Amino acid sequence: MILGTRPEIIKLAPVVKELEKRGIDFFILHTGQHFSYNMDRVFFEQLELPQPKYNLGVGSGSHGEQTAKMLLGVERVLTDERPDVVIVQGDTNSTLAGALAAVKLQVPVAHVEAGLRSFDMSMPEEVNRVVVDHVSTLLFAPTQLSRRNLEREGIVEGVYVTGNTIVDAIMMYSPRIEEAKLPLDLPMEYVLLTLHRQENVDNPVRLASAIKGVGLVAEELKVHVIFPVHPRTRLRLVEYGIRVPDGLVLLEPLGYFQFLKLLKGSRVVLTDSGGVQEEACILGVPCVTLRYNTERPETVYVGANVVAGLDPQRILSKTLEMADKRGSWPNPLGDGRAAEKIVRTLKDDLG
Ligand code: UD1
Ligand code: UDP
Repeated sequence: MILGTRPEIIKLAPVVKELEKRGIDFFILHTGQHFSYNMDRVFFEQLELPQPKYNLGVGSGSHGEQTAKMLLGVERVLTDERPDVVIVQGDTNSTLAGALAAVKLQVPVAHVEAGLRSFDMSMPEEVNRVVVDHVSTLLFAPTQLSRRNLEREGIVEGVYVTGNTIVDAIMMYSPRIEEAKLPLDLPMEYVLLTLHRQENVDNPVRLASAIKGVGLVAEELKVHVIFPVHPRTRLRLVEYGIRVPDGLVLLEPLGYFQFLKLLKGSRVVLTDSGGVQEEACILGVPCVTLRYNTERPETVYVGANVVAGLDPQRILSKTLEMADKRGSWPNPLGDGRAAEKIVRTLKDDLG
């Protein structure tokens, strides 16, 4: 299993648990794409995951540099280990490098969360998803919609609709949410914000626009906006000299239990994260997506999510629209048994 970032660790945790339960031999190769304690190790500790057998320590860099270093390291490990299959998840550079290195060595690739599409090739994640899906042997699509996206690209063999493992993760770990200690006393009412997409935060106009919109939300709803800040975003806020308006409370990135507790209690969440859109939908928290598209349209169709874009007035109006919609929508993302289905299929396929 190859992973490298916060969401991959969280979404592969249920698969790890299922492999362990069935006594299947596996190891984790960590690319080291995420490396800060609160973006990486905290999740291994909280989710009680085995230590990676390898950590390539690749860290940050341009897309080419980061992916190239990963390719070299992954190839070396796979050449030595010769696994029967490589499991990758999602759409990061670690996913791409893991899948490419494996397929070139003729090691079959199993892609967890296959078939998501934003149809926006300017996003690095969309490029990664498309490439990885086209070199995978087993494709675990979370929903019928993602299966249809694959079908439209001519990928029909080896596709299984499993649900998203994020549902499994929430079900598995939600008993631990209540015990989580937060680094602040929570107000009665608050809004949660996360923001980290490259196309948003590496663009000073877009980043300033998003922050302005969120400031309007804090002012109009008279609430604090709690903002655990991704390291990329913290760097850009400083670099672009963007002033954070009153009403925003900036925190360091949180552990999983802390974050879910904060999300569960929030009136509405504003985010450009993929995983957070899904979790909000599952937990019944209305979501305003600070992007121009989403590869999670199921959350929009059930009424849990709205795609607002980055214009400040539109962020405000869409948030006001969603703020009282705390949810009674159906969960379109799975029944919490995705990992079981994935591992059963892997086992059947490998014989
Ligand atoms: C990556 C993924 C993105 C995913 C996100 C999850 C790609 C192309 N992008 O974006 O799809 O949604 O992870 O969070 O793979 N940094 C730290 N400590 C860390 C990690 C990052 O300080 O542990 C800082 C570094 O300065 C780095 C910046 O954050 O330059 C961006 O990190 P990087 O891994 O390149 O991309 P993400 O924005 O995290
Ligand atoms: N998350 C977390 N702490 C935080 C922010 C997010 O544990 O401070 C979790 C969140 O619950 C979700 C995942 O990180 O499961 C989402 O990761 P991210 O937004 O970085 O990436 P994306 O899902 O957009 O790829």
